[in-house]
Amino acid sequence: KFYLNFIADDRWKYLTNGLKTTLIVTVFAVLIGIAIGFLVAVVRSTYDKTKKLKVLNALCKLYLTVIRGTPVVVQLLIIYFVIFGSVRIDKTIVAILAFGLNSGAYVAEIIRSGIMSIDNGQFEAGRSLGFNYVQTMIYIVLPQALKNVLPALGNEFIVLLKETSVAGYIALEDLTKGGDIIRSRTYDAFMPLIAVALIYLVMVLAFSKLLSILERRLRNSER
Ligand code: ARG
Repeated sequence: KFYLNFIADDRWKYLTNGLKTTLIVTVFAVLIGIAIGFLVAVVRSTYDKTKKLKVLNALCKLYLTVIRGTPVVVQLLIIYFVIFGSVRIDKTIVAILAFGLNSGAYVAEIIRSGIMSIDNGQFEAGRSLGFNYVQTMIYIVLPQALKNVLPALGNEFIVLLKETSVAGYIALEDLTKGGDIIRSRTYDAFMPLIAVALIYLVMVLAFSKLLSILERRLRNSER
């Protein structure tokens, strides 16, 4: 009886609601990741170039080491069960924070490599125009650096979209968990899991396509 009801009523709901959760977590996590990554990258490059911000730089390094040295699932579990262990909090928020914090470390290295890819002559040119360090950074270096790393940031979105599939570890009903719930209740593994895989695949392909169009546009604007 339950089996039949389940099929008739809400099998698709688990996929559509799950997809919604997956997209929400991914989008907000990427935004947090870019904000953190940007700040960390600027601190790290400023230290490299001027030897200022020593303490902040050390903190950023610690953050990068810890986040990139441990699995994202473990970070998610720690944030949910340890940090927010005794407070009631929406699991979606926990996932956004965990994946955002995780993504920030990877984005920081992406943006830092973008800043490093800008020739030092650009800095010198800025300074000889009378710009101070901050102005040179904001008006000359960062715009070029960000343009260079735009494709890599798009790729981070794709990575995160797939990475959020481990959110089921804290029983958040994302797309993957939704498919798995259908599997456990219908005793049919094939249909729901293949459907989940296809949904991810279609999203990744669509986003990759958008990215390659963007990349082409950026290359053309170079001339
Ligand atoms: N899956 C790996 C981990 O658990 C890599 C995570 C990559 N995350 C990212 N936002 N690029 O640590």
